Amino acid sequence: MSESRCLYPGSFDPVTNGHMDIIRRAAGMFDRVVVGVLHNPDKRGCFPVEQRIAMLKKACAGFPNVEITAYGGLLAQMTREMGISTVVRGVRGVGDLESEMTMARINHQLNPGLETVFLPASPETQEISASMVRQLASFGADLSSYVPLQVLPDILAAFHTKDSKEQED
Ligand code: PNS
Repeated sequence: MSESRCLYPGSFDPVTNGHMDIIRRAAGMFDRVVVGVLHNPDKRGCFPVEQRIAMLKKACAGFPNVEITAYGGLLAQMTREMGISTVVRGVRGVGDLESEMTMARINHQLNPGLETVFLPASPETQEISASMVRQLASFGADLSSYVPLQVLPDILAAFHTKDSKEQED
């Protein structure tokens, strides 16, 4: 029997405990989970893609069936090239649903072999977003409940460097 695979795409800017909740559950549902760092044209990136990948690799080190990759094009094209027919997306609440459903429909139009599966965020992580993490980090707040501990030093270092640069300017 062929192995079941899914793509979990996102910006992961940076990876949060919300993402980890979805990765952990997807890793229990599929033989293999490909976590894909893709470009969201609606968002101005904060961390360079290579650093997002490095942080994801650290955070996912304990999951033998999870691999991390990046792709610069359309999700529909990536899944076609990789022969993946299931996309997993986390949904934190109704606010996420409209745009997520639009994205799922468009991806299905572009690649009719592709289905999107929505996982409802766990109650402990449903308030967490990467933008909230970035905002908290910029004010020096404690992030330990929001991001995997393995990447905490990377995030603190990035914002510390930003702070010192801004003070120099
Ligand atoms: O974590 P995000 O920002 O919600 O993830 C959104 C992402 C990166 C998955 C989405 O913007 C995406 O798929 N980008 C790749 C380009 C693409 O295929 N766009 C069409 C989506 S309808």
